[in-house]
Parts: sequence; structure tokens; C-alpha cells
Amino acid sequence: MNKTSYVIDEMISAKTIAARIEVLATGIKARFADTDKLVVIGLLRGSFVFIADLVRELDLPVEVDFLEVSSYGDGMQSTREVRILKDLRGEIAGRDVLVVEDIVDTGHTLANVVKYLRARGPRRLETIALLDKPSRREVEIKASWTGFEIPDEFVVGYGIDYAQRNRNLPYIGSVRFTG
Ligand code: IMP
Ligand code: MG
Repeated sequence: MNKTSYVIDEMISAKTIAARIEVLATGIKARFADTDKLVVIGLLRGSFVFIADLVRELDLPVEVDFLEVSSYGDGMQSTREVRILKDLRGEIAGRDVLVVEDIVDTGHTLANVVKYLRARGPRRLETIALLDKPSRREVEIKASWTGFEIPDEFVVGYGIDYAQRNRNLPYIGSVRFTG
């Protein structure tokens, strides 16, 4: 009971993702070419595969940290401060920072995270999202770099879950409910 069945259609292959990350990394390396240290912050949990592949393409002095925030179920709480479930371990004051997100959907999560991190006084703060669903946006925000713009479909894989499942798929797939 309460069992929802679905199939997953491949939307973006592992090969396509890898090729795109090489291009994105080139832009990031150019932007932060002069950095003494780049703090790459992955938003848990969805970004864990993306950040792992991305940092291995960054030929820069990199430190990796993670932040976990609660995401809102509806847009009514858009003015609410972000709730921190797991905070950074390191300091980012005066540092170069790159925030790594899996998907920008309504935009509330990334907007709140940027606000939260800016308050800690980083020197430069840029953002990267693997996926962007621009048609779903409720707050005006765009990541500095975006992997792929996708239509308003529910996706899984490459770190991204549906009810905590399917994060281990090597590709991005679109969920099609069948019953
Ligand atoms: P936003 O605050 O609406 O931009 O939400 C972004 C977060 O919602 C992402 O970090 C994901 O965790 C989650 N999310 C948005 N779209 C999807 C999806 O298609 N599949 C799985 N999670 C999603
Ligand atoms: Mg997320």
C-alpha cells in the first residue's frame, strides 16, 4: 500500500555530464586563477557526486566543506531564514568560495544559502548548479555556472534522490510515474 511505481528515463548520460564538467571547470579555474585557496562548499546531500567529480577537474588549491540546509516544501515561507542542519567546519571570512548545488528549482534554497554565506564575509562567492529548472523559479537567482537547463520534470541520479533512492545512478534520469 502507498506504493508508487515509476520508471526512470535517461535524460543526461554520464558521458555528457563528464564532458560538461570539464568545460565548467575551465571557467572556474579562469575565474579563480589567482586564488590562494578556494573553499568549495557542497550542499548536502544532492551535490555529493557532482562536487566529487568537479573538484577533481579543478587544478587549484581547494578545500572542501559541506553545508546542509532544510528546503521548504512550499513557497509561502520564502522570507524565512534558511535552517542549518549541518554547518560548515571551516571559516570563509576573506576566502574565495564556490557553492555547489545539485538543482536550482524555485531558487529559495540557493538564494538563502548565498545570503547566509555572504554574511560571513567571503572575499568572492560564486555558485554552480548542475541543473537548473528556470520555469520553476520563484525568486530571482541564477548560479554563476549551470551545467544543464532542464524542463519542469522530476529528476534523479548522479547524487539526486527521490525519497532517498536513486542517488547512485551514474546518469540523470527523469521520473515517470506509472501507478
Ligand atoms: P529550490 O529551493 O526550490 O530551488 O530547491 C532546490 C532543491 O530541491 C534541490 O537542491 C533539490 O534538493 C530539490 N529538488 C528540486 N527539484 C528536484 C528534482 O527534480 N529531483 C530531486 N530533488 C529536487
Ligand atoms: Mg538539495
